[in-house]
Amino acid sequence: MSEPIRVAITGAAGNIGYSLLFPLASGEVFGKDRRIILQLLELPMALDSLNGVRMELEDAAFPLVSEIITTSDADVAFGDADVAMLVGSKPRGKGMERADLIKTNGPIFVGQGKAIDANARESVKVVVVGNPCNTNCLIARGQAKRTNPRNYTAMTRLDQNRAAAQLAAKAGAAVRDVSRLAIWGNHSPTMYPDFTNARIGDLSAQQAVGDDAWLNGEFISTVQQRGKAIIHARGKSSAASAAWAAIHHVRDWFRPTPSDQWVSMAIPSDGTHYGIPEGIICSVPCRVDADGEYHVVGGVELDDTARGRVQRSIDELVGEREAVKDLLA
Ligand code: NAD
Ligand code: LMR
Repeated sequence: MSEPIRVAITGAAGNIGYSLLFPLASGEVFGKDRRIILQLLELPMALDSLNGVRMELEDAAFPLVSEIITTSDADVAFGDADVAMLVGSKPRGKGMERADLIKTNGPIFVGQGKAIDANARESVKVVVVGNPCNTNCLIARGQAKRTNPRNYTAMTRLDQNRAAAQLAAKAGAAVRDVSRLAIWGNHSPTMYPDFTNARIGDLSAQQAVGDDAWLNGEFISTVQQRGKAIIHARGKSSAASAAWAAIHHVRDWFRPTPSDQWVSMAIPSDGTHYGIPEGIICSVPCRVDADGEYHVVGGVELDDTARGRVQRSIDELVGEREAVKDLLA
């Protein structure tokens, strides 16, 4: 058996953490033959609650779990981590936008970025879930001097999953038949779920759905506003679906992407793709190779309307970067 994989999870006693840990421990992400060490970080005031989660993990008797570390010390939590899932942060409430969280949550990612860079493996794969996730990721990545700065990503997989579910339902198809569906831009109301390149079975999504007005209107706004709709209905933000999306994000970063699929990841732009300025953390369609490296899918055609929508989201990300410039190393 290979060495256990070390996975650091912040905010592990929170709502997403609670939904995330059990599938992770069961082998859903790294396979049923890979042992795992869970390195769980919480605020000091949440350590009692985290201890309860730890007891439940022990009681689930997962054969793959080699060790569970619970701590409020980020240097311990990120020690030799192969993967860092940054969930711990405040969720928005009713009437707020995710960007309203920048001032509260942004500073968390300076300290955690430093702790990751000082303690994790150089190859650590980082996914930021805590909102506003693209810009929090930018802040953490600002501290990456030793660790690979390419490996700092933010999660837009929930948006991809939401979009796939909407398309499948409208077309009377199964979610598994939806492919080449990508989220572009920011995890915010400006995100662009690109249906123009999506496929449903052997048809384009436009052919399968047969309703361009719905695609251009209700489909896009439903995906863009789904987080708000869930907060309105539940009184708190999405948790189980977000945890599953985080599982999909990491799982799909460790295995080659099936030939007809794309995965949406918000990645650091190197300035060479689709006119996206260098440095911002922008969601694009990616494919992962056999070595676990992601690559931006090239040659995706976007018409003028789609380009305009993507540009709006890029402009928003550039504005968020400006707003946190004091937190960028
Ligand atoms: P929650 O309040 O239930 O849990 C957050 C946990 O993080 C708490 O236990 C808290 O003690 C802990 N925490 C706070 N600051 C911390 C720090 N500095 N270090 C370690 N732990 C810390 O919230 P939740 O529902 O789990 O949501 C967490 C974050 O995920 C929110 O910012 C939310 O908006 C975001 N989110 C993102 C997506 C996405 O698609 N990217 C989806 C859903 C939620
Ligand atoms: C979501 O999309 O569900 C999360 O980002 C939570 C939120 O604030 O919308």
